[in-house]
Amino acid sequence: MITLDDKRVKSFLKEVDFQKYDTKLKKAHSSLIRRSGKGNEFLGWLDLPDMMLDSGELTEIQKVADRLKRLSEIVVVIGIGGSYLGSRAVIEALGSNFKSLNYSKGNPLVVYAGHQIGEDYMVDLLELLNNKEYSLIIISKSGTTTEPAIAFRILKNHCEQKYGKTEAQQRIVAITDASKGALKSVANKENYSTFVIPDDVGGRFSVLTAVGLLPIAVSDFDVSQLCLGASQMRKTCLEEGENNPAMKYALVRNLLYAQGYKIELMVNYLPSLVYFTEWWKQLYGESEGKENKGLFPAGVSFSTDLHSMGQYVQQGERHLFETMIWVEKAQKKMLVPLDKENLDGLNFLAGKSINEVNEKAFIGTTMAHLDGQVPVIHLRIPEVNEKTLGALIYFYEFACALSAYMIDVNPFDQPGVEDYKENMFAMLNKPGFETLRSELIKRL
Ligand code: PA5
Repeated sequence: MITLDDKRVKSFLKEVDFQKYDTKLKKAHSSLIRRSGKGNEFLGWLDLPDMMLDSGELTEIQKVADRLKRLSEIVVVIGIGGSYLGSRAVIEALGSNFKSLNYSKGNPLVVYAGHQIGEDYMVDLLELLNNKEYSLIIISKSGTTTEPAIAFRILKNHCEQKYGKTEAQQRIVAITDASKGALKSVANKENYSTFVIPDDVGGRFSVLTAVGLLPIAVSDFDVSQLCLGASQMRKTCLEEGENNPAMKYALVRNLLYAQGYKIELMVNYLPSLVYFTEWWKQLYGESEGKENKGLFPAGVSFSTDLHSMGQYVQQGERHLFETMIWVEKAQKKMLVPLDKENLDGLNFLAGKSINEVNEKAFIGTTMAHLDGQVPVIHLRIPEVNEKTLGALIYFYEFACALSAYMIDVNPFDQPGVEDYKENMFAMLNKPGFETLRSELIKRL
């Protein structure tokens, strides 16, 4: 389902000790599947696809999704980081590019809140919701993250004022920890439908729990196919060896890192995959970037960004490599038409599909960037559907854990994320942060 082609990278790896990295890779794989590595209390995601397929939770998710669909033109997913990026990545990859112009009760539009602190955004959202039938899915594992908590307070009030408390309870679903956190207390008190994020699954590895699956099911995509694709990839990833694409990917990106390439650019060639890249950036950035180590994950969307970032990639500082995702088959079909007058000189393309033209852009760009001394990895998938996306999600998660173990960091914590939060709380006069506040004010 996924083909990883790294043959164009070998010539860039002149000074690397392959044997050493091969040993690191095998050790990382063994630590992961024996569950003996750093952060091994957060390995629940390893079994999620099969667990979801075997438990009754998918049916429960579908039932709640059907209720929200029936009630809503718009479903607001409130969450930040791992609590919203996975569902957004899948929904945007599978949906119509113009869904925001064509939605209705039964076929609702999913929009997002609590993933930033923009005041205008919140005002615009409430203006939209004044005239629409809507529901809310609030997602926070800790149940205490400030951005979604503020958005939820505002949206919960709005929902209760619009529909009354009892109907609002039908329209609000909470996804959070089994027992801890402010969100859990609110959900219990208000009797909301609730899904649990397992203790051993961290936010950015949670897309195959209700965190990702409920919003995806609300958007009418097949969550069992998504889990099935992930489950098939799981079998491949658990086996050590040449045929394991996650091992191949973890190895090659670490070899390039050792050779001095510090930035990995994920390249997609479809606008619908932009949020898949965003999900990947969070997964790798938050998992690997610690102890002054880790590749910097960045993303571009071609051919759009060939007209902005393309110049830098071709001729800027040589510290980056690219991983290009190529999708063999488009979901829909359109050919370039023949024009008798040919005033635009485009008849040489007549009869070709748009995807064929895109493919030549992909090949042409690969060759140009290789000539510009940018190592290029190809990752091909046959098409974008629930099954391939499920496989891709599991592949990236598994490779991420392997990669992090290869540089000897814990993939499952995020100690650095706390620093900005503490400063923000101090600046907002949160009780308990008085000393930090005076220190910060002196430094301002
Ligand atoms: O991957 C992670 O753990 C983070 O990105 C979290 O998902 C993010 O910070 C949101 O946390 P929470 O779900 O606790 O609100």
